[in-house]
Amino acid sequence: MNTYKGRFITFEGGEGAGKSTQIKILASELKELGHEVVVTREPGGSIGAEATRHVLLSGAAEEFGVRMEAFLFASARSDHVEQVIRPAVKAGKVVLCDRFADSTRIYQGVTGNIEATLVKNLERVAVNGMVPDLTLIIDVPAKLGMQRATSRSGKDNLDRFEREEMHTHEMRRNGFLDLAKEEPIRCVVVDGTGGIYDIAENVYNAVEIVLPLLPTKNSTKTTKTKVSKSNSG
Ligand code: TYD
Repeated sequence: MNTYKGRFITFEGGEGAGKSTQIKILASELKELGHEVVVTREPGGSIGAEATRHVLLSGAAEEFGVRMEAFLFASARSDHVEQVIRPAVKAGKVVLCDRFADSTRIYQGVTGNIEATLVKNLERVAVNGMVPDLTLIIDVPAKLGMQRATSRSGKDNLDRFEREEMHTHEMRRNGFLDLAKEEPIRCVVVDGTGGIYDIAENVYNAVEIVLPLLPTKNSTKTTKTKVSKSNSG
């Protein structure tokens, strides 16, 4: 667990896993409980990182090679961590992030064939100690995920990574599942094939364990103010 007051929770998985729907549901549940929630995403999430997002997703950087893309993801991540994630977690908020460093491990590492040491070094520098307290891996078979992604965006509007071969999507799915086995304390795999609210329940059960304590609403100060107000009336 990080040493700040808040929590940093990431969502990972292949294409069309349903991460953003789950993040939306979880964010509203947590807000209802009284947590301050920040929803963010990668690539992007900060002004500097959003400027890089289009370059990466349009495929504009593809011709320069996977190493170049990995460096761009890492530089965007560094800005996102320092400008948005760390300040929010330091302030006691719960940050829900759609993709983070594990996506680089899988997309650029496992299926991009970048050397493991480079992926590790880029991650260390970009993350700079801001390791997620919990990573939810939403798991769906690659074929189902791509069917969902295609019906959402349309076949002609798939981004640079969605356009890849089914075999590549399958390798990514297996990559995420292997990662969960390697880091079983940080990573929880949630089956993403069921009903939205069944999945949300499993997500919440995993998140509940790491939630920060909420400040008590009726602190002594508030109670005293209320008491003195009613006395004076
Ligand atoms: P996006 O449209 O933001 O969303 P989704 O998570 O729903 O696919 O797409 C981001 C794409 O960028 C996705 O295909 C995964 C890829 N990606 C990487 O290849 N490496 C990374 O480090 C990150 C954060 C994302």
